[in-house]
Amino acid sequence: MAGLQLKNIRKSYGAVDVIHGIDLDIKQGEFVVFVGPSGCGKSTLLRMIAGLEEISGGEMYIAERLVNDVPPSQRGIAMVFQSYALYPHMTVYDNMAFGMRIAKESKEEIDRRVRSAADILQLTKYLDRLPKALSGGQRQRVAIGRAICRDPKVFLFDEPLSNLDAALRVATRIEIAKLSESMPDTTMIYVTHDQVEAMTLADRIVVLSGGHIEQVGPPLELYERPANLFVAQFIGSPAMNVIPAKITAAGPQTTVTLTGGKSVTLDIPTPASENGKAASFGIRPEDLQIATDENFLFEGTVAIVEALGEVTLLYIEGLVDGQPIIAKLPGILDIKRGQKVRFTGDKAKLHMFNSEGRSYRS
Ligand SMILES: Nc1ncnc2c1ncn2[C@@H]1O[C@H](COP(=O)(O)OP(=O)(O)OP(=O)(O)O)[C@@H](O)[C@H]1O
Ligand SMILES: [Mg+2]
Repeated sequence: MAGLQLKNIRKSYGAVDVIHGIDLDIKQGEFVVFVGPSGCGKSTLLRMIAGLEEISGGEMYIAERLVNDVPPSQRGIAMVFQSYALYPHMTVYDNMAFGMRIAKESKEEIDRRVRSAADILQLTKYLDRLPKALSGGQRQRVAIGRAICRDPKVFLFDEPLSNLDAALRVATRIEIAKLSESMPDTTMIYVTHDQVEAMTLADRIVVLSGGHIEQVGPPLELYERPANLFVAQFIGSPAMNVIPAKITAAGPQTTVTLTGGKSVTLDIPTPASENGKAASFGIRPEDLQIATDENFLFEGTVAIVEALGEVTLLYIEGLVDGQPIIAKLPGILDIKRGQKVRFTGDKAKLHMFNSEGRSYRS
């Protein structure tokens, strides 16, 4: 089984620790996406899996084989980078065949694999072209094709679409989703900064920060049940609003009083020891609604209106110092800057975190 196991994987550059002990099991055929802020260690982790970066501590298994000291070429992996680096003087066919020629594969086998990869990626009619005569998206597909030809057990992608324009990103993302479906036994690990890529491609998302894992789970689980404030504000765009609050009645249900004085009772149990403690109250922009009665959560002044057509974003000031609350409401609204608006939200979709940022729901 070509799954992966990472056991207490560490990386340091001299005295600087950048990966602090990652434990992760990835099943064969799984599509796992790494996300996290710039510098959190996503590429480093991927490069350690590929064998391009030495592992400072811990054990890495690919298909149940300890690979810490196995060179990249013998790990059964293929990697696609952000910059596709094709050979400019070689045709698409030759670019894809290159690795196999070096490996002294037979002509027939090379031809079979190149044509099969070209077919999957809709590159058949470009096989005789040079890279300069291709669009950015087509070039990136050639880079992916080159990786497919190596017939890897594990496919690694490091932000493969970030050089492409918006429309090409969408088209190539869909190609990658299809590719993964057509190779159900191939494990894929994919690094991205793009929320939509992470949410749509992943079987499971790994959220990293500062060289450790914050949470691992299926996309919608991370969205609906973030384990902590970091994940809550990292997954989802615009980010979840967080309002400082205080627990005023702990119990099987919990009452919190928000900055601004309003109280709300949630179906989230908390132990009596939490009474009186500071907490953070979270609500996603898309879970806010305009209140039509006295039963509102908070009131604020509209500072900015962003009408995007399908949705309107309202930036509300006057509640949390220096940070607007964002509401994402469907359609086009007749609301102006300076207007006072009251908001409410579906109680089942509200979040609450303790003073250390851990969710009370999990
Ligand atoms: N050769 C190196 N020497 C010292 N520090 C390094 C080296 N390579 C990377 N780092 C550090 O390791 C950390 C992780 O880097 P990495 O490239 O893995 O981040 P990343 O999550 O991929 O970021 P990005 O989203 O910007 O690509 C960073 O703080 C970086 O400065
Ligand atoms: Mg990176």
